[in-house]
Amino acid sequence: MIEVENITKSYGSKDNRLLVLKGITARIEDGDFVVLLGASGSGKSTFLNVVSGLERADSGSVKYDGRDISGLSDSELTSFRKDTVGFIFQQYYLLPNMTVEKNVRMGADLAGNADYHKIIKAVGLEGKLKKYPGELSGGEQQRVSIARALAKKPKALFLDEPTGALDEETGRQALAYISDLQKEHGFTMVMVTHNQNIAQMANTVIKMNSGKIIEVSTNEAPKTAYEIGW
Ligand SMILES: Nc1ncnc2c1ncn2[C@@H]1O[C@H](COP(=O)(O)OP(=O)(O)O)[C@@H](O)[C@H]1O
Ligand SMILES: [Mg+2]
Repeated sequence: MIEVENITKSYGSKDNRLLVLKGITARIEDGDFVVLLGASGSGKSTFLNVVSGLERADSGSVKYDGRDISGLSDSELTSFRKDTVGFIFQQYYLLPNMTVEKNVRMGADLAGNADYHKIIKAVGLEGKLKKYPGELSGGEQQRVSIARALAKKPKALFLDEPTGALDEETGRQALAYISDLQKEHGFTMVMVTHNQNIAQMANTVIKMNSGKIIEVSTNEAPKTAYEIGW
């Protein structure tokens, strides 16, 4: 379980300070699929970054199974990220001079997962092992980044606009792969999107506005990537 307690976060200097997270409290159960919605600039990415340990909050706490990550040193926080969380962004951040296999293996090496070929197969890339990112379509590159993030078997996966650079067909396909993998492996998932339709795939939908949570709702019957509108 992830427990977020009254976090605040600001950017800028003392004279020019922008308060981006204005006291956020949330609870994310193990295996939950949370979608975070909100207008551009409402603080979604900042929230994701603080909850996942990419950035530090100014105040408040973020607890994983009762362990507060806010008090960790930089090196402890790095180990925490390595062992516990995975990331997928709108940009794929693949290493251009490494093959698909090596890009994914980097993620797997972090956790000593010798089993990473399974995950490459699970995202339909077994035929592309020796290709370089530049030889792949956008949708395929995003699937490499999905495999890389999941090769290390994270407890929680954080996704920031993962379909933002994809067209409808490849976007649905990426979401379908992610959602199938979640069903199989049971990791917790928090996804930022501004596509309201994607919220219908989640168990829990958190709406943010201007640095605050304004609504939390649950879906009794989440839809698949091919059942939602786009
Ligand atoms: N590193 C940063 N430095 C300064 N301002 C930032 C930084 N990151 C985000 N902001 C500002 O914080 C606000 C919220 O940003 P963000 O969390 O990216 O919102 P969202 O993801 O909902 O679009 C915006 O006004 C943005 O300009
Ligand atoms: Mg954002």
